Amino acid sequence: MDFDLTDEQQLIRQTAREFTDKEIVEQAKQNARAHTFDLDIVKKIADQGYLGAIVPKEYGGAGLDYLSYGLVVEEIGRGCSSVRTVISVQTSLVCSAILKWGTEEQKHHYLPKLCSGEWLGCFGLTEPDTGSDAAKQRTRAKKTDGGWVINGAKMWISMGNYAKVALIFAQTDPQLGHKGLACFLVDTDQPGYQPSVIEHKMGLHASDTAAISLEDVEVSDDQMLGGIGDGFKVAMSALDSGRYSVAAGCVGICQGCVEESVKYAKEREQFGRPIASFQLVQAMIADMVLKSDASRMLVWRAGFLKDKGRPSTTETSIAKLHATEAAVECSNTAIQIHGGAGYVDDHPVERYFRDVRVTTLYEGTSQIQKLIIGRAMTGINALIPS
Ligand code: CAA
Repeated sequence: MDFDLTDEQQLIRQTAREFTDKEIVEQAKQNARAHTFDLDIVKKIADQGYLGAIVPKEYGGAGLDYLSYGLVVEEIGRGCSSVRTVISVQTSLVCSAILKWGTEEQKHHYLPKLCSGEWLGCFGLTEPDTGSDAAKQRTRAKKTDGGWVINGAKMWISMGNYAKVALIFAQTDPQLGHKGLACFLVDTDQPGYQPSVIEHKMGLHASDTAAISLEDVEVSDDQMLGGIGDGFKVAMSALDSGRYSVAAGCVGICQGCVEESVKYAKEREQFGRPIASFQLVQAMIADMVLKSDASRMLVWRAGFLKDKGRPSTTETSIAKLHATEAAVECSNTAIQIHGGAGYVDDHPVERYFRDVRVTTLYEGTSQIQKLIIGRAMTGINALIPS
């Protein structure tokens, strides 16, 4: 077993680290305060090749392997989870789905524009009444001559207000359950696509989150991604990539918590010495390092399997479950080390704490990840009543 990164991977990681420190860290605080979705930063991450990082160069991507993509996402996640969300959604949920399921024509039409950041994309799976039970889509697609007309509503859609293309999952025949689902590449300028901003979120203040109403939205046949009945698989395979990306971002939060806490604990003096010299503080730091390292190893394993083209759904769920829960705990511990200073946004740990909370919810809750893992171990689907 070889834990060494290649020279190229080390360079990619170092470049992402320097880029994050220079372009993202300070801006993240200002954007969170102002609740700004920062299109200048989106342009910068696109110029770095971080949108569509795993897309082959022939379609305008950076052609990175999954492990390298994870290294980039870790660094960006340390800097700002709102920016990391842009990368995760655009690269993993949108681009990876088009790459896996798209026709050559669709790939050439959408991917270069998404990789360059000219267009943003969003992933319209979740609905007001459809969360964990993703197969129960209430959005309907009705066949017309030469196309489809879509009616329904989507909820909690990252970048739904800025996207030019929306992956919209819809039921074509309710009798068929998940086998009736289809995914459509909807042009958001199309009449009937109406997004609105979801406000008053706990965190990710610099991320755009939308509710979307779809009223008689017309799409042509060639805007279907995959075939009729493939929709659920399109969603699940995209989430295999999305969950990996969320997990990698959470490793970044864990790492940020360690680095910020060590720095603060060495500066802050109480009882006549730096608080870093107290055993109880060192124990908290050790606990965060443990969580950070274990999460990173799980993400690297999932990335390794993806790069080998081997099944990785279970390992991705393990990485997502561990890294997101670890990041929630690390951000809490980091605030404990910072004391009152951690309760205001002068230090990033305050933002880590608020931003990380959604990661055990979105792209599949921790409970859904446990059911995926439990099913893989037992062969029993706990979601089907016995
Ligand atoms: N890749 C490809 N196909 C897959 C797959 C995968 N990873 N996982 C399952 N499938 C296929 C199965 O093989 C099966 O195919 P067949 O019909 O041919 O047999 C089909 O999909 C149905 O699979 P399941 O029986 O496993 O489906 P299920 O109904 O039991 O659901 C679930 C499983 C894991 C609970 C799933 O519904 C799920 O992941 N729910 C959570 C949804 C979720 O993560 N939502 C997040 C929304 S995205 C978001 O948050 C975006 C944002 O903007 C931030």
